[in-house]
Amino acid sequence: MIHMTEATLMTEASPVAAKPHLPDAQTVTAVRHWTDRLFSFRVTRPKSLRFRSGEFVMIGLLDDKGKPLLRAYSIASPAWDEELEFYSIKVPDGPLTSRLQHIQPGDEIILRPKPVGTLVHDALLPGKRLWFLATGTGIAPFASLMREPETYEKYDQVIMMHTCREVAELEYGRQLVESLKDDPLIGELVGDKLIYYPTTTREPFHHMGRVTDNLSSGKVFADLGLPKMNPAEDRAMVCGSLAFNIDVKAILEGFGLREGANSDPKEFVVEKAFVGDGV
Ligand SMILES: Cc1cc2nc3c(=O)[nH]c(=O)nc-3n(C[C@H](O)[C@H](O)[C@H](O)COP(=O)(O)OP(=O)(O)OC[C@H]3O[C@@H](n4cnc5c(N)ncnc54)[C@H](O)[C@@H]3O)c2cc1C
Ligand SMILES: NC(=O)c1ccc[n+]([C@@H]2O[C@H](COP(=O)([O-])OP(=O)(O)OC[C@H]3O[C@@H](n4cnc5c(N)ncnc54)[C@H](OP(=O)(O)O)[C@@H]3O)[C@@H](O)[C@H]2O)c1
Repeated sequence: MIHMTEATLMTEASPVAAKPHLPDAQTVTAVRHWTDRLFSFRVTRPKSLRFRSGEFVMIGLLDDKGKPLLRAYSIASPAWDEELEFYSIKVPDGPLTSRLQHIQPGDEIILRPKPVGTLVHDALLPGKRLWFLATGTGIAPFASLMREPETYEKYDQVIMMHTCREVAELEYGRQLVESLKDDPLIGELVGDKLIYYPTTTREPFHHMGRVTDNLSSGKVFADLGLPKMNPAEDRAMVCGSLAFNIDVKAILEGFGLREGANSDPKEFVVEKAFVGDGV
């Protein structure tokens, strides 16, 4: 298998050559913990991996029996980045993340290089404004798309609405948006096109409330001085819990937008940030 060859080469060149080989192995290059429930990390990128910003892959570790334990993860870095970035929850008893949260630079993870997903530019018809609507780790695909030049080439304005329970849970997204202004590669393209609208629901913050409430009450449009969402101008990508996705979909349809797909581009697309209702 071609990826076994890559994995072998990677391991031979890496300082952790003494560790057991993983199938489709990639080496962790950086880890950052944001809260006791959230962390991000970067890994080497397989030379053969091509993906569209916004897609997800399967990543994981070997379980106690030596079998790959894999979960879907949005690639949080853009398609042009030479490494791959991921933004992850830590589920205390989660089969994967109870262990993945302990990775260190130099460790290996498994990465199946078969990217897929609906949160891609190809799944939307051309428009004027693009809305990214996310809760929690659902910001991960948008961390990729906010760094993707095509995002700014295709739209006049890009609005990132991200809602978490607490302020600290917004920090990964906040720092990313802040860094884009001075980014040597895409800072100029981003210009003042990117509008960041973070809110919390369970801790006081300058903007509060669920994405759904801020859309249906019209508060976000009033706050940003934008017209109400409409199918002629607005496009949206949605990523959160199942309940969030269902509620947002109903609101977007109420504005006259229709759900699209890779094979049938329309005005909005949806993807689950995780499967399950809670931990
Ligand atoms: C298309 C897709 C993309 C995904 N992208 C990401 C990503 O970029 N980052 C990420 O952290 N997770 C992502 N997930 C979720 C991921 O696949 C795993 O569920 C997660 O890593 C936890 O794995 P686990 O084995 O520890 O627990 P699991 O057994 O997988 O999950 C246990 C429970 O934890 C809760 N949970 C799982 N993931 C999350 C989450 N992200 N936020 C809040 N609660 C959660 C759910 O209630 C779930 O039932 C994605 C899932 C899908 C379907
Ligand atoms: N975040 C934490 O501090 C924390 C700590 C320990 C355990 N957990 C557990 O981890 C799991 C995931 O937590 P999470 O905070 O990552 O995700 P979450 O429960 O989906 O909440 C993330 C954000 O989405 C909002 N939201 C939830 N459902 C929505 C809907 N249908 N429409 C619009 N907005 C919606 C929430 O608002 P509301 O606040 O109004 O619900 C919150 O601001 C939960 O089961 C939780 O019990 C979370």
